[in-house]
Amino acid sequence: MPWPALGCPRMAETLFEELKRYVGFSPEDEQALLALHGVAREHFSRIAEVFYARILEHEGARTALEGGESQVGHLKGTLQIWMDQLLRGPWDEAYYALRCRIGRMHVRIALPQHYMFGAMNVLRLEFQALIDEYYRHRPQEVEQVRRAVSKILDLELAIMLHTYREDLLAQQARNERLSTFGQLVGSIGHELRNPLGVIETSLFILKGRMTPGDERTTKHLDRIGEQVAIANRIVTDLLDMIRDKPLKHEPVRLAEVWQSARSAVQIPVGVSVVERGLSELPELRGDPNQLRQVFINLLENSIQAMGESGKVELTATIVAGSVELIFEDLGPGVSESIRRRLFEPLMTTKARGIGLGLPLVKRILERHGGSIAYVPRPEKGPGARFVIRLPITPPGGSSAALPAAR
Ligand code: HEM
Repeated sequence: MPWPALGCPRMAETLFEELKRYVGFSPEDEQALLALHGVAREHFSRIAEVFYARILEHEGARTALEGGESQVGHLKGTLQIWMDQLLRGPWDEAYYALRCRIGRMHVRIALPQHYMFGAMNVLRLEFQALIDEYYRHRPQEVEQVRRAVSKILDLELAIMLHTYREDLLAQQARNERLSTFGQLVGSIGHELRNPLGVIETSLFILKGRMTPGDERTTKHLDRIGEQVAIANRIVTDLLDMIRDKPLKHEPVRLAEVWQSARSAVQIPVGVSVVERGLSELPELRGDPNQLRQVFINLLENSIQAMGESGKVELTATIVAGSVELIFEDLGPGVSESIRRRLFEPLMTTKARGIGLGLPLVKRILERHGGSIAYVPRPEKGPGARFVIRLPITPPGGSSAALPAAR
């Protein structure tokens, strides 16, 4: 078979070219949009007002604009730039790359994709109204410009949906990696238990044979002991992640579980820990040890995030038949870019730790029929806030009915 000629003119089509071909976006459409730009640009600011007013009217869509008025003000400005580029082009690969970046911003803040259709329709209607007004006396151009607007807005929607799909595929790939990881971890975890056990036993024997007063040796043996405990904890967390420990179904007083977790964590003197409402809660049913682990992981995270000083608050109330626990700290909080992946295994920003603490917390709570969510707290300044829900009576109300492991 002959080799293809170098510099072959039939280069592979890019995704954007394919999309343009699919909607039939032509040079005539480009001309029509440029002509519309001339008359539409003075309306961009008004259209941006209408656009965000519509978003703010809807209680679900509104929650995405958590940055409040200043964010909306900024977004109105960027939407005007967006409209300017929409009608002025050039509709080239740089345009496509920019639109993908904007699409990924919406994906990153976990904006549900169905809001995009309503939002795009607001723009469609505004542009159509402008066309009706300015092209009244130019019947030969009106159809062309209508079609051009329709096509470019379809293209924009296609790019937005493409970025959501891209994210989904990346998540799938991550899940596949995690399932392979799970199998690997299971075997490595088991294998590590034995050598760690031997080190612990030998350490115990060595400590018994120490010359009294040998402080340096004591210090080093203690250090080995601490590190072995850390390694053991990592192995336990890993194994807990991949095989679900059977869940007990006992009466649980959360106030006691919280106290027990508090005493298991080393809390620096500069960190104050305050709890409210826990002792007034009714008895729940569940696994006290695993719920204790939930509190330990959250507390340890907060302390690592805050360092030597700060505050942790746990507030308990009853909301619609469930216990609601609000866990807050004064650390730096969780940046928007990692919020969506906060509960995924191996997601960590810490130098120490492998990112299993929060996934484990989520898993334990879900197995109790509960949930956990990260809820930003812009009204209170920096800090992290987790909202936990636990049913007072777990689904079914009997141990057999506790949700099965996923
Ligand atoms: C036709 C639909 C939409 C268009 C053309 C659009 C346009 C844009 C643009 C250009 C940006 C980039 C801002 C920047 O560079 O800083 C952006 C970001 C953003 N948009 Fe949209 N948007 C649309 C739909 C929505 C909807 C429906 C919502 C909320 C319900 C929304 C909320 C946001 C938020 C919160 C950001 C900031 C994200 C961040 O800071 O990471 N957008 N959008």
